[in-house]
Amino acid sequence: MSSLLRNTSTLAILAALSLLTATSSAPAQTAKTPAITQFAWGDKTLSPDRRADMVLQQMTLDEKLQMVHGAGWGVLREGDPVAPRHNHGAGFMPGIDRLGIPDINQADSAVGVRMAAYDSRYATLLPSTLALASSWDPHAAHLYGEVIGRELRDQGFNMSIGGGVDLTREPRNGRNFEYAGEDPVLAGNIVGQLALGVQSQKVMGDIKHYAFNDQETGRNVVNVKMGKREMRETDLLAFEIAIKMAKPAGVMCSYNLVNGEHACQSDYLLNQVLKKDFGFQGWVVSDWEATHSTVASANAGLDQEMPGEDFFGAPLKNAIQEGKVPMSRLDDMVHRILRSMFAVGVIDQPPVRRVVDPFRGREDAQHIAEESIVLLKNEGSLLPLHPAALHSIAIIGGHADVGVLSGGGSAQVDAPGGNAINPSQPTTWGTPVYFPSSPMKALQKLAPSTTLRYNAGTDLAAATQLARSSDLAIVFVTQYMSESVDAPTLSLPDHQDALVAAIAAANPRTIVVLETGGPVTMPWIDHVPAVLAAWYPGIGGGEAIANLLTGQVNPSGKLPITFARADSDLPQPTVPGLNPATNRADRDLHANRDKSFDLTYKEGLAIGYRWYQVQHIAPLFAFGHGLSYTTFQYSNLHADPATHSIRFEVKNTGTLPGAEIAQLYVTLPAASAETYQRLAGFQRLQLAPGQSQTVTLPLDPAYLSIFDEAADHWVFLPGSYQLAVGPSSQTPALTTTIQIAK
Ligand code: BGC
Repeated sequence: MSSLLRNTSTLAILAALSLLTATSSAPAQTAKTPAITQFAWGDKTLSPDRRADMVLQQMTLDEKLQMVHGAGWGVLREGDPVAPRHNHGAGFMPGIDRLGIPDINQADSAVGVRMAAYDSRYATLLPSTLALASSWDPHAAHLYGEVIGRELRDQGFNMSIGGGVDLTREPRNGRNFEYAGEDPVLAGNIVGQLALGVQSQKVMGDIKHYAFNDQETGRNVVNVKMGKREMRETDLLAFEIAIKMAKPAGVMCSYNLVNGEHACQSDYLLNQVLKKDFGFQGWVVSDWEATHSTVASANAGLDQEMPGEDFFGAPLKNAIQEGKVPMSRLDDMVHRILRSMFAVGVIDQPPVRRVVDPFRGREDAQHIAEESIVLLKNEGSLLPLHPAALHSIAIIGGHADVGVLSGGGSAQVDAPGGNAINPSQPTTWGTPVYFPSSPMKALQKLAPSTTLRYNAGTDLAAATQLARSSDLAIVFVTQYMSESVDAPTLSLPDHQDALVAAIAAANPRTIVVLETGGPVTMPWIDHVPAVLAAWYPGIGGGEAIANLLTGQVNPSGKLPITFARADSDLPQPTVPGLNPATNRADRDLHANRDKSFDLTYKEGLAIGYRWYQVQHIAPLFAFGHGLSYTTFQYSNLHADPATHSIRFEVKNTGTLPGAEIAQLYVTLPAASAETYQRLAGFQRLQLAPGQSQTVTLPLDPAYLSIFDEAADHWVFLPGSYQLAVGPSSQTPALTTTIQIAK
């Protein structure tokens, strides 16, 4: 059990909390909830809202209160009580048996179901969400959500806690791998499809962490200061797109403060923007211990405290009885939960437990990995490899002989058979976990007559000797990232830059495969002809990497995030709040929740690639960049002001089938005062050699408006819009200008 503990610095709080949860008012439930069909609100022809209201009318005050908080830390904390019907996920709320309302069992499931091994269950590790975003493929995103939803159902869960869509303002953020990159349009569309996929399996979805939880350093105390326009056009736009698309059951509010208010008690973020402007009909669930008050939070729009009842248990009952929180507010909280349960289908078709199909999950994970791995560089067409012409390959580093790396924290999925690098090692919050999908073994299968030899890369002399004596070297470099800790720099850890430089010096035919949580710097880039960004590629990652290296699959992923040349090129050259003495998040800041610090992100509106455009800084690899083994040509761009759409053709001019991700970037009229391009549309196309396809993209006002702070609404400006279409943010293939009338 100790392996499940988060980290020792929180033990004191844990002990105090376990006392509280031990006296939890949650009733001990062991009986089965009666079938919903026995009740008048079991009528599926009624709307979810009507059904929720019918239940609500029957509920006592205590029953209502029971639904708006969790039943404690449960299995997440050693020694804490675990309610009888708790499914051993991150969160549990007992249902109301007498009314046929089932329990809510939530599981963390950012990149696959967390803690499956706790009950000897299995869960598929998908590629990281950032990898998924590199596919730019809405179908892959839906499939990703389907895998998660399917496996949650099979394990008896009815709610997913995942769907991270915080934008990358801090490329060293420990949780970037759980998010979908730096652009609101790409991230919003990908995570929206993901949540739709989850809910297609009749499992409630969630989108998190609302909002501006863009770094882990000081996440409980950082106060993000930002104007409304900056908020609405960047991170909040990503949330808006995803939430409007998926209509998720839940939105999780975050740990940090925004403009002086905790996110979980921000009237602006919750009531005004999320519920009123976005029209969100689900419920706001707090991040674990991100609730800081009773009256202020309840009235600001928080609907459920997790994981316990410090504020929404007895204190909320008192506040209601004293009239400080109106009963109508409590009814609204419960209504939102019940209507979501009816709308998604978890009451009419509750999960039925069965054995997870690991083969199906692995196949889906590998397919998504093959669409998401990005070929960053391929000088002299070193790739794809032609095994028949290669006598020997040196495989160096990254535990490529046994597996692929996964991300940590609450997104950690348990590896089948245990950690592949040391099965006896417990999988704790801070231990890198490798999954048994060896790129080396997969490559050997595709290159049966080539000699593959492995060196761990820890002994530089031995590694360079192996590289020198081989036809070709492939260096696997890794960067382990996890919730609660940011990387101190963009540099690869553990002297891996020196390793790559030494191998490239020993053998000019060196390929680097990155398994990282996000972007890293590459001081050796001029000496390495080929680089593949595999992110955390999931349980089929080894096979996917081998298939791409050998051309069994043509690379098609494109970067959802800019790779900077150096930390000094970033808007924040050092991680704000990071303690330079320890090169870690300052633990004092985490422990002392009163000690908040202000953070004004220097880039403001110019997030991600926009920063590089405005500052005229050349990135190492630009947003949207990614190579293929074939070539594509863009032609015949037509912009139609009447229909607000554009049309162009893309042709595969090479000799191999391949997928291209065509991207549309728009510079707004001068009145916007925006001097950068915005991604305004994209399409993934699969093309046979010689095949061409016409692409039509709308100029969607939702992606092209500015937020007028004074008027507090969106404005689609009339005027001249400059359009650029092409294979990346840096390489416009075709450009034109379109006049939009008033
Ligand atoms: C994380 C959430 C997670 C929750 C429950 C928190 O520390 O920020 O993303 O869902 O724990 O495990």
